[in-house]
Amino acid sequence: MLVSEIPTPALLVDRARLHANLDAMQARADTMEVALRPHAKTHKSPDLARLQHDRGAKGLTVATVDEAEAFAAAGFDDIRLATPIVGPGKLTRLRALTEAGTRISFTVDTREGARRAAEAFESGPTVEVLIEIDAGYGRCGVPWTETDRIVALAEQVRQSSGLSLTGLLSHGGDSYAGPREGESRDDALRRVMDDERDRVLGVAAVLAEGGYLEPQTAEISVGSTPGVTHFTNREAAGFRVTEIRPGTYVFYDATQVALGAARLQDCALTCIGTVVSKERFDDGTERVITDAGKKVLTADRRAGSETYGTVLYSRRRMIAHPHARVTALSEEHGWVDTPGGSIYDVGDPVLLVPNHACVAVATRRQLYVIDGDEVGEVWETVAR
Ligand SMILES: Cc1ncc(COP(=O)(O)O)c(C=O)c1O
Repeated sequence: MLVSEIPTPALLVDRARLHANLDAMQARADTMEVALRPHAKTHKSPDLARLQHDRGAKGLTVATVDEAEAFAAAGFDDIRLATPIVGPGKLTRLRALTEAGTRISFTVDTREGARRAAEAFESGPTVEVLIEIDAGYGRCGVPWTETDRIVALAEQVRQSSGLSLTGLLSHGGDSYAGPREGESRDDALRRVMDDERDRVLGVAAVLAEGGYLEPQTAEISVGSTPGVTHFTNREAAGFRVTEIRPGTYVFYDATQVALGAARLQDCALTCIGTVVSKERFDDGTERVITDAGKKVLTADRRAGSETYGTVLYSRRRMIAHPHARVTALSEEHGWVDTPGGSIYDVGDPVLLVPNHACVAVATRRQLYVIDGDEVGEVWETVAR
C-alpha cells in the first residue's frame, strides 16, 4: 500500500525517524547510567514498546489501569503507573495483575490514597509504591519542601503490610512552560530538569535519615521529554536518579520543536488529511478545508500559538510550509489558510505535525508505519 492510498485522516509514523529517536534516547539513558522506563501513553502500541525494549528499555510507564492491563496482556511484566491510583475498581484490577505475576508499581501522595492502597493489598502479594514528589510542576505529589508530610507518608507506608516503599517519583511537567524572560530555551529546560533532579534527591536524603530509603536500593524516577533531553545525573547523599520516564520523545511534535527539545526533522508522527473544499478570498488568502479536524488533531494548543500543528511543505524533507496555518478546527474539518494562495487543490493531501502527539495517537485505532512512500506496517493502538 502507498501513503497516497491510506484513508484519511490518518496518523503516519516515519520508521526511520522513529528508530533514530529511540536510539538517541536509549543512548542518553545509557550514558547517564539510568534506566529508561518509557511512558507508553504516547504510543499505546505494544509493537512500538517492543522496539523500546529491544534497545534496552527497562519496564514501561503507563497512566491508566486500562493501559496497565493492555500492556500486561501484550507480555510486558514490569509496569509502573506514574500517578496515584484512586477510583472505583482500579486497585482491585491492579491487584489482579500483581497476582497474575506482573510487577506493578504506582505512586502515593496522600494519606487517604495510601490508606486505600494498603486496604486493597492487605492480604496477598504486597505492591510497590513510590512517594510522588511535586518538584515544581504543581500537579500530583507532595511538595518537595514539605518534608514532614513526606516522612509521615513514608511512615504510613512502612506500617502498611500490603505496601512496600520502592522509592520516589516526580514529573517535571513544568518543562513545558518555556523560558523565563531573558532565558534561552536550552537554559530553561536545563533549569527545570536540574531542579527536579536536585529536589527529589534532597527528599531521598531526608528519607534516608529515618531509614525509609537506602541509596543502594531506592528507585528515583524523574522526567518528561523536554526535561530529559537536557538530563545529567549527579549524586547527593549517595542517591542518584535511577530512571527517566519520557514518552513523547518517540515521535516528538510541534510543541517539542517550539520548546527546543527537538527539530522538525525529528518529528516521526504526521497527520495526513485530504482537501475536501477550497475558497479564495479577495485579499488573496486561500482557504482549504481538510478532513483532519479535532477528532484526530485534538484541540490542544501549544503555549503562545494560534495554530493546530505545523503544516508541512514536504513530508520527505520535513520542511514547514512558510505560510499555511491551521486556523480553526471543528470535529471533522480543519481550516488551512494560506495568505497569497497555496499549493492545494481539492483532493490533495495536507500533511502536518500535530501540536501534541500523545493525544492525537489516542484518537486512532491504527498507526501507519511508513518507509518512504510505502506503508510498511499497520500498528494497532491499545487502551484508547
Ligand atoms: C507522570 C508522567 N511521567 C512521564 C510523562 C512523560 O512526559 P512526556 O510526555 O513529556 O514525555 C508524563 C507525561 O504526561 C507524565 O504525566
